[in-house]
Amino acid sequence: MNQDFLPLNGTDYVELYVGNAKQSALFYQYAFGFELIAYAGPETGVRDRASYVLKQDKIRLVLTSPLGPNHPIAQHIQRHGDGVKVLALWVDDAEKSWLETTSRGAESASAPEVIKDQFGEVKVASIFSYGETIHTFVERKNYTGVFLPGYRPRKSTYQPTGIGLKYIDHCVGNVELGQMNRWVEFYENVMGFKLLLTFDDKDISTEYSALMSKVVSNGNGYIKFPINEPAAGKKKSQIEEYLEFYGGPGVQHMAIATDDICHTVSELRRRGVEFLEVPSSYYDDLLDRVGKIDEDLQPLKDLNILVDRDDEGYLLQIFTKPVQDRPTLFFEIIQRKGAKSFGKGNFKALFEAIEREQELRGNL
Ligand code: FE2
Repeated sequence: MNQDFLPLNGTDYVELYVGNAKQSALFYQYAFGFELIAYAGPETGVRDRASYVLKQDKIRLVLTSPLGPNHPIAQHIQRHGDGVKVLALWVDDAEKSWLETTSRGAESASAPEVIKDQFGEVKVASIFSYGETIHTFVERKNYTGVFLPGYRPRKSTYQPTGIGLKYIDHCVGNVELGQMNRWVEFYENVMGFKLLLTFDDKDISTEYSALMSKVVSNGNGYIKFPINEPAAGKKKSQIEEYLEFYGGPGVQHMAIATDDICHTVSELRRRGVEFLEVPSSYYDDLLDRVGKIDEDLQPLKDLNILVDRDDEGYLLQIFTKPVQDRPTLFFEIIQRKGAKSFGKGNFKALFEAIEREQELRGNL
């Protein structure tokens, strides 16, 4: 039988390289309801960078800034702007994970190493994925500290209440034209993932632009990575706009799960997070398209939340506008009610909404 050679327990953390981690940390605390739990920087003996660790339920975000202009992280930010550098995966054996993947063709980003402090030890090892994005395997069974060795607990005087963000549902990568299958094969052959779904340009096209997408998932289904590439259209696709402004492939969006999307989105809106808007006509025949749903229609319409149904149930979802000035990384908020898919029925309305934004930026 096919043994899973890369068992994954889930997402360990997501690290963003940002221009000003101190201020980004406050943004994610204030607007998204994350709690500051740990810090590493000059005060903890780290001389060249500062990192803030934020937590909400199962999600950990790390925000890192360099302290000088010649640091590799500074060059990363110059090229890409703020964005996701590390999609860290929680494993039981980091060295084996690194060996299994590098022996199948993954490029090593850092060899296995043990890092220690008074709370125990963590083993880490990293491989490259698309662009400059990396996967770090984190083995933490012998560690009781707040995050990783070297980090110290840190609290903010601002104590946010969570807004119901629970875990990372999926994380989407944008790659160049013609590269989607190469990266799908990478996840299949190097990481043992399976192809879950395919969307072609007939599924995902508007009058102007199109994209293609394939979704890969690991053995237990905890990790889902859709991979997008641009497809030919009359005008520049949203994926091309991303690639241009990110300076290559990278993480397009992180989808975060909630059990109460109306509450979560009300809170995000109240705190100033901006969302893509679909026209109110989207709601005119919504119930004809998706059938009976538990929620009242009016609050969904007021909050501009989208609904889609598949064979197993339905889902509710909404997309933020980009969370930095470059039109690159954004977030999705998703509530699943049985559906395991990704909202194919909403693609057209969504992409038209994105194109209206592209037009405003002069990038369509
Ligand atoms: Fe998504």
